[in-house]
Amino acid sequence: MTVSLQSPGSKSIYEQDIFSALPASVLARIAADTLFPQSLPDRWPKKLLGEVMLLLAKVWVRRQRPEFPNQPPTSHQDVRALYDSESKRYLQRHARTTCRQDDVWRLWLGQALVSKIREVNAQQKRPARHLELFAGSGLSYSSQAKVFHLHDVAVNTILLDASAGMLDVAAKLTIPQVEHAGHAVFVGADMPELRKQAMRQERRRTVEIVQSDPAGNGAAPVQAGPSGRGLLSEGSHDLASIMFGLGAIPLAKAVSLSHDLLHLLTEGGRFAVTDMHKPVAHLAGRWAWPAPVTFRWAWLEREAYKRITVPYVLRQLWGWYDPSLYPHLMKLSVIKTEGLWYGWEEVLFELQSHSWDFGMPMMPVYRQILVKVRLSEHEATERANASQAILSCLAEAGESECDQPAFPLGTPA
Ligand SMILES: C[S@@+](CC[C@H](N)C(=O)[O-])C[C@H]1O[C@@H](n2cnc3c(N)ncnc32)[C@H](O)[C@@H]1O
Repeated sequence: MTVSLQSPGSKSIYEQDIFSALPASVLARIAADTLFPQSLPDRWPKKLLGEVMLLLAKVWVRRQRPEFPNQPPTSHQDVRALYDSESKRYLQRHARTTCRQDDVWRLWLGQALVSKIREVNAQQKRPARHLELFAGSGLSYSSQAKVFHLHDVAVNTILLDASAGMLDVAAKLTIPQVEHAGHAVFVGADMPELRKQAMRQERRRTVEIVQSDPAGNGAAPVQAGPSGRGLLSEGSHDLASIMFGLGAIPLAKAVSLSHDLLHLLTEGGRFAVTDMHKPVAHLAGRWAWPAPVTFRWAWLEREAYKRITVPYVLRQLWGWYDPSLYPHLMKLSVIKTEGLWYGWEEVLFELQSHSWDFGMPMMPVYRQILVKVRLSEHEATERANASQAILSCLAEAGESECDQPAFPLGTPA
């Protein structure tokens, strides 16, 4: 089967000028260049060369995965089943797909958390409480543990994931191999008793592995808020982290997850994320060849992301959404508890182009650190209005509840 290289008929949110309709006060709250469509005036001979390269890239992507599915996973159950079946070879496959850059991104998450852990250790004389969401087979935690050991900080981590297969690999293979940590590993749903026992052992670093959403209904992986109970409840954690997980849930759920995390974290609590992002023209990456010429090609980056990465790699292979909008909207979340307003202070948003296969800069990765802070009622209202304005704008543009992938699939020929 061949799949058409035509760009999808309906325009994506990034190609419509919907954001320019928003008032300046709303736009001031987002990195507008990361969302706006950008005109990329390449001449046709260069574009023709680009088209040939895109065709070759697509053949390459499909050759990497001979079992390329004809239909993408469509339900949460499909995604879970996919990760269950991928769990044993996930490490090698992810390392290969990311050109072995994933370990660096995972280490960064540990580094993003460590100063907060140290603060909690010093001020409150207890291990920091850390939640790793979409934790998969524990690879992200195993990199973070190296950083925690380096700084000799005390932290109790809960790994949450929906896939029993991934968690099984975490419990049996990944976590037992992590050096430098006195681990207590438990697998289950909600085990406050076992957790208390682990704490009593007074280890500097402990891990619990918990299956979120065992019913498999695709809920965002945290149910906190006033109704939260047990393991995950109001103010129960100092830190949360996610590495390459948000794309599993649609935008509306990512926004509700952001609310949940505001409930879950203590004031001053830190939430660090690393994930993929659509290319941004003026941040286009430098090609490793033809060295020594400095060479950047924003048009090709954008087209490759739109026509190959999103429809085939993200959507068709993994049932994944394009998470580019998520960090911009998640940071606008606000909650009110006991009469006080809270939201996020964004202390870092970084977009960095990375080199992928053949040294080509095909897609940036973003890093975001959000800190839970108290807000005035005025600021909270502004943020809530801004978020609502963007969501309505998306809905008007036909991105109904933002549940659709940003770039629909190409049509099978
Ligand atoms: C790309 S993997 C990332 C794993 C890990 N963070 C890492 O760095 O290796 C995404 C993970 O998200 C999990 N996942 C997908 N949908 C989920 C959901 N709705 N709730 C919880 N976990 C989910 C999958 O089971 C998978 O383990």
